[in-house]
Formats: sequence, structure tokens, C-alpha cells
Amino acid sequence: MSANELEPDSRVQSSDTVHVALGARSYDIIVGVGLLSEAGKHIAPLLAVPRTILISDENVAPLYLERVAQSLSNHGVACGRIVLPAGEQSKSFAQFEDLLERILAAKVERGTTLLALGGGVIGDLVGFAASAVLRGIDFIQLPTSLLAQIDSSVGGKTGINSRHGKNLIGSFHQPRLVVADSAALDSLAPRELAAGYGEMVKYGLIDDVEFFAWLEANGQQILSGDEAARRHAIAVCCRAKARIVAEDEHESGRRALLNLGHTFAHAFEAESGYGGDLLHGEAVSIGMGLAFRLSARLGYCDPGDAARVTTHLKALGLPTQAADLPAPARRRDALIEHMSRDKKMKDGRLNLILARGIGRAFVTADVPPSDISSLLDEFLGTEAS
Ligand code: GLY
Repeated sequence: MSANELEPDSRVQSSDTVHVALGARSYDIIVGVGLLSEAGKHIAPLLAVPRTILISDENVAPLYLERVAQSLSNHGVACGRIVLPAGEQSKSFAQFEDLLERILAAKVERGTTLLALGGGVIGDLVGFAASAVLRGIDFIQLPTSLLAQIDSSVGGKTGINSRHGKNLIGSFHQPRLVVADSAALDSLAPRELAAGYGEMVKYGLIDDVEFFAWLEANGQQILSGDEAARRHAIAVCCRAKARIVAEDEHESGRRALLNLGHTFAHAFEAESGYGGDLLHGEAVSIGMGLAFRLSARLGYCDPGDAARVTTHLKALGLPTQAADLPAPARRRDALIEHMSRDKKMKDGRLNLILARGIGRAFVTADVPPSDISSLLDEFLGTEAS
């Protein structure tokens, strides 16, 4: 380690490494406090040639871009820099085109590696660009939001949104490495952090009731900045995600469980216009509550479990009811229309994730559309303000 790193390495006390086992496309996720300041040490050994393009957004770049660039330089790695507008609206055709042109203008070569420094939007956009430019080059994820650290930076899903819905255009393209610096969470707005926490709860609900119970006891510490709690929870989620992705990289089965609550969530987000009125994790929070309500309604799970899910999400400040949705996302017919175009449609039926209880999620295409409509009627009608 060079003496002129911007941050002293004393902040990196220790780190956890989670391996994503995908044969030739295997990679590690490193989780720890202060890792961005030593990013170069982890990145340099993986590069075909010591050339990278570091891509971030206008919110994250002022905080961390130079820190990462300095660490790369200390390890003999050159880096170009591209800074994009922040926000979900950057996952558009227009921004994708602009990004590709800027990468090409930076004289990218096949051996160049793209580095995605930011939240889920930057990760999805840069990953998709890496899969497309020169027919595919390497990329590395440096996630700075909780949502990106525990979910979107791992597993190789990349893409952009269409006016027909979220993430409908994209590719599977695995990163070469994920470096999750939990200290970056300190700079997140409380609302962003809570939204990421919604995705964290998802892992407990899918297949780990003990983790859900741990979150019930310790979730508040994650939001209030306890480093040990954060690192533990991020590593648990990354291990869960790595396991699922290793079993089913292209989502032909088990990986679909990670979409718990997402069919509802994507419809809410599309109707809200991706403009920041409703964050992805907030939409997922409401969606997971609905998935459990639907499970209870269909007799798969105890209504007490559905109530326990919403009680916890609500206690941690996440939205759970119709009144929490922006007005455009409370229109039943528009929501149903969006859901009917979901990626998870199979033979004209919605593939939904339901649960037999907390930690017992399953995929089914057997939900009659009339039950989804009545659930939405009940949710929007009785709880809307
Ligand atoms: N975020 C869901 C997945 O990666 O499959």
C-alpha cells in the first residue's frame, strides 16, 4: 500500500469475502469498512491491462470518485472518469446512448475495465454498457448504496427501463469483482438507507426466518449506523444472493424468489414515473406486504405472518399502505395493466412469489387474476386516504 492513499487504511479493520461460484465467471464480493480507499489493491490484480473507466453519478462522484482514482493510481492503474446525472431516470435509452458514446470517446479497448461507482442505477447502467460495448468487456462493481451492496451489484443483472416498465431491456453480464464499502452508507440520506433496508428484509422473508428475527431485534442499529451490525447483515445478504445466483444464474427457477414483492413494486414505480416520489426499496416494501397478504388470502400462510412483516417494515420507517403511494400509483387498472406486461409473465399468467410463512417463499403461476384484482381493490380502497 502506498503512503499517499487519501484515507488511512486503519479504517479497514477486516473484511468478509463472499464467493459467487459461477465457473469461469466466478468472482468475489468483498465487504468491509473503508474499502473504497484501497479499491486499487483489490482491482489491480484482476485487470487484463491497467486501464479503467470510472463511472459515477453527480451525487456519489464528489464523495468518492477521487478517493478511488487515487487508490487506482497508487496501484499503477489509469482511469478515465465519466459522471452521469443521478436518479432512476438515468436508466433510459437516452442516457444509455450517451454513456456508450462517452465510453467510446474515452478510447475504450477490449482490455479496458469499466468501474461502476454508485447505487443500483449506476451499477445497472454501467453493467449493461459493459455487456454491449465492443461486444462485451469486463466491469467491476463499487456499490455505495445499501440496495446495491446487498442486491443489485451481485448476480449480473444489468439493464435500463422502457416506457413499458422497469428493467425490461438488459442483459446478464457478471462483474469481475464487487467491493462493498459499508462506510459509504454513512453518506446516504435516511430515506435511501431505509429503502435499501427493505431489500434486506427480503432475504429473511425468502428463506431465512432466523435472519428476519435478527433484523426485528437489530434492524434499527443498521439504520442508525452500527458498523458491526451493518457488516454482518450485508455479508448475510450477499451470501444468500451468491447461493441463489450460483444455483440459477439466468433465473429459470429459484432466482425468481429474489423478486418477492417486485411485480407489485415495478407497477407502483412505473406509475410514479421513476422521479424520486417512490424509491425502489419503498415500492418493494409495499409489494412484499402485498405478497404476504395475498399468500394469507389464498390460504398459504397465517395472516399473523403477513401482519408481522408489515409491522416490522413500518417500525423501521418503510411505507406499507396505499396512502404511502404517490397518487398516480393508486390507480388499480393502470397497475393491473403494468403487471400484465411484467417480465415474469408465462403463458399469459403472472409468475408471482408467495409464501407459506416467513422464510418459506415459493414461485407460483397459479394465482387467478381475479384474486390479484380483489387484493388491489381491498388495499387501495380500504386503506387509501
Ligand atoms: N434483484 C434480483 C436479482 O438479482 O435476481
